[in-house]
Amino acid sequence: MNLRDLYINYFISKGHKFIPSAPIVPENDASVLFNTAGMQPLIPYLMGKKHPYGNRLVNYQKCVRTNDLDSIGDKTHHTFFEMLGNWSLGDYFKKESIAFSFEFLTKVLEIPIERLAVSVFEGNKDIPRDEVSANYWLDLGISKDRIVYLGMDDNFWIAGEYGPCGGDSEIFYFRSNEEIPIKFDPHDHRWVEIWNNVFMEYNKNQDGTFTKLPKKNVDTGMGFERVAAILEEKDDNYASSVWKDIIDKISEIANLPYEGNEKSMRIIADHIRTSVFILADNAGIKPANTDQGYILRRLIRRAIRHAKILNIDINSNWEELIANLIINKYCKYYRELNDNKNIILEELKKEKDRFNKTLEKGLKEFAKVLSSSNKIITGQDAFKLYDTYGFPIELTEELAQEKKLNVDIKRFKDKFKEHQEKSRIGAIGKFKGGMGSNGEIETKYHTATHLLNAALKVVINQNIHQKGSNITEERLRFDFNCNHKLSNEELQNIENLVNKWIKDEIEVKVKEMNKNEALKIGAECMFIDKYPDLVNVYFIGDISKELCGGPHVKNTKELNHFKIIKEEASSSGIRRIKAILN
Ligand code: SER
Repeated sequence: MNLRDLYINYFISKGHKFIPSAPIVPENDASVLFNTAGMQPLIPYLMGKKHPYGNRLVNYQKCVRTNDLDSIGDKTHHTFFEMLGNWSLGDYFKKESIAFSFEFLTKVLEIPIERLAVSVFEGNKDIPRDEVSANYWLDLGISKDRIVYLGMDDNFWIAGEYGPCGGDSEIFYFRSNEEIPIKFDPHDHRWVEIWNNVFMEYNKNQDGTFTKLPKKNVDTGMGFERVAAILEEKDDNYASSVWKDIIDKISEIANLPYEGNEKSMRIIADHIRTSVFILADNAGIKPANTDQGYILRRLIRRAIRHAKILNIDINSNWEELIANLIINKYCKYYRELNDNKNIILEELKKEKDRFNKTLEKGLKEFAKVLSSSNKIITGQDAFKLYDTYGFPIELTEELAQEKKLNVDIKRFKDKFKEHQEKSRIGAIGKFKGGMGSNGEIETKYHTATHLLNAALKVVINQNIHQKGSNITEERLRFDFNCNHKLSNEELQNIENLVNKWIKDEIEVKVKEMNKNEALKIGAECMFIDKYPDLVNVYFIGDISKELCGGPHVKNTKELNHFKIIKEEASSSGIRRIKAILN
């Protein structure tokens, strides 16, 4: 049995309920581009909201972290990864959590105890030193020499600037054939962290103070790729079964061995895999110059450049061959890969064709810049490469680095600001994960989205359903199935109907229901599999009923006035509406 199944089965046997992975692009949360940890979609529940599945949960979650994108190409980093996690929402705490982790590692995975070491939180002026966890580890047989106490930087976990958090206990594995030292030294790189147990009992407020959460929770996370490689005794993650077939395919396409071409092959494998998963997400992200779309663009373009380094014929269908392999490999666990297969392949090809048109000329231009520059690529040149040849600035930086040159990023940014409309500026400096938010405005847009969904059914037809949704403080964006461009008259009717419902001051109510019962009464729902047996259904009078996590306003009058600002195609058979409240 594989690691994923072993993990899920073990925690199910300990009373946990399996919850499906949430999308990688957080729903209704504009403050973070991607889910970066298994706990991120669970924040409302860690803050005290009742989870419909109960208070012991387990899953594997799709995550994307782009803060160390530059490290991709080494043996261990990935932009997309899966996190195995188990949670206690106010149920068990340190003792059981540590006992579960220990039993799973030593009994289920049969890792010898000699290969394990742990760290615990050393405490600070507000939070006591975690002797409790240390003692549990001792009781289980971890020797004193293998337990270290570390501070806020190492053993305190929080997803962003504020939110649920707490001291943690990390488990390390000795990944080397050399003799295992008696004493654990966390700076010795042969000890690699494999699992993090966070004891989430605090909330860090926006003013920097800590308050106790209503309940004590446990949030654990284990990096799937890393542990899989360890169990298979590979010191290069890309040599493990998670990656080997993908690397083999790249090697076959390039007609080159992996040895000697590791960096480019790893980058292609990693970036295409992440792109496939981002494109498969129902949020409908496409390559673009801002936000998630920009990350996607950077990933695809960087993969293309490395394909070129390997002398792959970049006009051939190399990217399709790799993407197909990834889709087939993962679709058993992530159905959306199959459901959105055409979109994935189409968008990869489109972006490839777009970039191929300018790549060659851009590289020539870069060579020219290189011969004329001294030690630095000017902001002006970097901007030209970006604007005329579609080189993401990070790609120019990478090319420059290879020639041991710097890029004048400050001047580039000035140029960028001068030339680009305001919305594109979001693309710079926005790549790190942060905390979720559900402010007052987002809540309003959430309810407006349900009204829009209902109005489309009345004005266009009953078979219209949500295919994607994204909310920021500025607007809502709604994707739905429809084969024609909406006429001005249709748009006006939709807008009028939503505004009528707002004027009617309709109450919004929520009811907890059994999933099948909710479907029977015709409640709208985008991904039925995603929901547990017990669901929340939001009713807006008798005009809308939808399965939804909320939050929503109490009465439609709070929405004031609804206005459609754009209607466009999103992909084939899918239209997109952007609307604002004012
Ligand atoms: N949230 C913690 C982490 O990402 C445990 O999963 O390390």
